[in-house]
This record gives sequence, structure tokens and C-alpha cells, in this order.
Amino acid sequence: MNTKKCVCIGVSGGIAAYKALDVVSALRKNDIDVRVIMTESATKFVTPLPFQSLSQNMVTTDMFAEPKAFEIQHISLAKRADVFLVAPATANIIGKVANGIADDMLSTTIMATRAKVIFAPAMNTNMYENPIVQENIEKLKRLGYEFIEPASGVLACGDEGKGKLADPSLIVEKVMDTLYYRDVKKDLVGKSVLISAGPTNSSIDPVRFITNRSTGKMGYFLAEEARDRGANVILVSGPTNLNPPKGVKVINVITNEEMKNTILENYDNSDIVIKSAAVADYKIKNYSNEKIKKGDEDLVLTFVRDNDILKILGENKKHQILVGFAAESNDVVKNARKKIAKKNLDFIVANDITSSDTGFASDDNKVIILSKDGEEIYLEKMSKRKVASKIFDTILRKR
Ligand code: CTP
Repeated sequence: MNTKKCVCIGVSGGIAAYKALDVVSALRKNDIDVRVIMTESATKFVTPLPFQSLSQNMVTTDMFAEPKAFEIQHISLAKRADVFLVAPATANIIGKVANGIADDMLSTTIMATRAKVIFAPAMNTNMYENPIVQENIEKLKRLGYEFIEPASGVLACGDEGKGKLADPSLIVEKVMDTLYYRDVKKDLVGKSVLISAGPTNSSIDPVRFITNRSTGKMGYFLAEEARDRGANVILVSGPTNLNPPKGVKVINVITNEEMKNTILENYDNSDIVIKSAAVADYKIKNYSNEKIKKGDEDLVLTFVRDNDILKILGENKKHQILVGFAAESNDVVKNARKKIAKKNLDFIVANDITSSDTGFASDDNKVIILSKDGEEIYLEKMSKRKVASKIFDTILRKR
């Protein structure tokens, strides 16, 4: 079963159709299953191919196309969607939905969905200000449909005024808010949550370093989950390619030492501390200020132990709930349990790094949450965003 949140994006025919590609791409990076429906006229502006490539799903255009599997597409997509976005939304699709017309794949699917529908209109200013369009928008708003206001500026037709598609980042933010804020419990209001994510680096010379494999995704999802539940969140992040989550204080660090210092500075004021970072355990003994030149001999480097940050946190724990991660390749539960004791943790989230379809760069994870008093919660394979939610459910239930 696909446990990811699903956003169905309806692309209707306007010059801004290409901007919907940025929306698809950003939602995918947020671990969302994206399904695209294009109207016939949208395909005159952009072909389905880039939408297909970015969403990694087939793009639907024709209601009567030969089905790939036995399912009634407009009904299955309507049911699968957690949020339905129409971007760009033309006067035509707004008018159709406002008046109950369902005559193509997009309009029938919107009609059949119970998901929240968000329109991001884009059209010529005069069209947008036309009282008929405005009346349709008002009617839809009254019925619970949501709108992302178009921006003002010079339009594709040369006119100036309101009608440009809202910035794709605003559209993505609205969709993410609708997906997660709506049904999330606000059980972390007033709490401070400190999270570490990503790898740390240890430099060997000005151009080389050693690091650990980590994309930082798990930690970023934890930060977003804590934020959505109402916490004040500080995310201490090693180098990653991820966008800083909105509404979270992100402090970027590179080395083990920087991560340790930043976390310790914020430790006393935190209620929950989760260390999902893949911290480098060793650093080079003698850093070379100059680039090490290659020679004919083998290169032998000496590494010395660096801080075990989580252990230091455990030793200095007062009121905090301390959660660690354990990346294990064998005896997962046994080894993770040892780390609970050694680092004075309240919980540890253990995962088997030898599993090929979860962990590291994957969007999914399969973990076991262990508590200091012996509980073991085996979770199914699920999206990392969902794992983040389960971790907070477990921590908060135990208080
Ligand atoms: N950790 C840390 N500082 C380190 C190493 C690990 O704070 N130098 C934290 C990680 O963020 C994680 C937990 O300790 O929350 C366990 O990390 P892991 O790499 O699984 O274990 P190690 O303690 O390094 O033990 P080993 O590598 O021997 O399994």
C-alpha cells in the first residue's frame, strides 16, 4: 500500500503551465506522491513528458484512453488525492467547476473528489477581473474551494495587472500546509524541540574530507513534523542538499565540533532532543594546510576519535527527552538497546542499514522504536514523513 500523501495537480491551458513543473518537482522533494492531469489545451503549452519525468507517474489527459489497469481513472485519482491543486487554473476550468460541468478528465476528477481543492488562477487581467469569473470564484470560495491569489505584473500578453500565476514556492507552501497542518495534532505547542540532521565532515586538507552517508531527510522531516505540531524547532544541520524548512530555525554546521557546540548551546532550553545526524566518529589527526600531493607510495592517514555528541547529551541530561538513532547492520535490536544504556537515552530509533529499499537516500524507512523501559515498536515500511509522525506519537504517549 502506498502510504505517501498524494497531491493531484490539474494543469489547465495557459502560458504558466510550465511553472507547474516547479510545483511538481518541489512536492516530490517533499516526499509527496504527485499525480498530474492535463487538459487537452494544457498539452499545447507543455507536453506531458516533463510532468511524467518529474512526478514519476503517468500523466492523464484523456478520459477514454486505454486503461493501464482495471480502474476508473477519474474516480481512482479523485479518491487517492489528499489535496487537489489546479495550477494554472484558467477561467474555463474555474467556470466549469463552479457550474457543475464535468466534460473532461480534469473537470470530472475535481467533481468526484472529496479532497480539498485549491485553485491557483492565471489569466489575462481583464479576464480575471471579469465579473463572471469573479462570481464563479466567490461561489467556489463559499463552497469551501480555496484560491491562491494571482500576482500582479507584466503578463505574457503584454498587459500589466493581476493575473500572473502565484510564485510556485507559495503554491507549494499552501499545499504542504493544507496537507499537514489540517489534520495534525497540536500537541507540541509551547515545547522546544532540538533536532540534528545530516552528516558532519572532517577535513583532511583544503580539498578533501571524510564524511558519513546521510541525506538529512529523516531529520528534516522530524523538524517539519514538530513544527506542524506547534513546537518551536531548532534544526542543527550538517551539509545537505535539502531546502531549509519554513518556520524552523536552521543552524548550519559542518564539523562534529560545530555540531556539538551548537547543540550544547541550545540543550538546556529544549524539551525534546532528537539526534538523527550521522556524526563522523573520527577526525584526521594532522590536518594538512596544503593539498596533499599524490606520490607513488600508498597514502596512510591517521584518524583520532571525535566527540560522541549524544553521549555527552546523555551525561548532561536534566529534564529533556533524549532520542537517538541507531544505524545497524546486524543484531539491530540488541545493539540499539546497548546504545540506550550507554548514552542514557529515553528512546532510540533503530534501522537496518543493509535493507536496500529503505534508509539512507530512500524516501522510505523501516524502523523499530525502542524505549528505555523495554518497549519495542516495530513499524512497517513507510515514508520518512510518516516515521517522523510515529516517533512523536510514541514520545508523547509515554509522557
Ligand atoms: N552520535 C553522536 N556522535 C557520534 C556518533 C553518533 O551523537 N560521534 C549519535 C547519532 O546521532 C545517533 C546515535 O549517536 O543518534 C547512534 O549513532 P550510530 O552511528 O548508530 O552509533 P555509534 O554510537 O557511532 O556506534 P557504532 O558506530 O559503533 O555503531
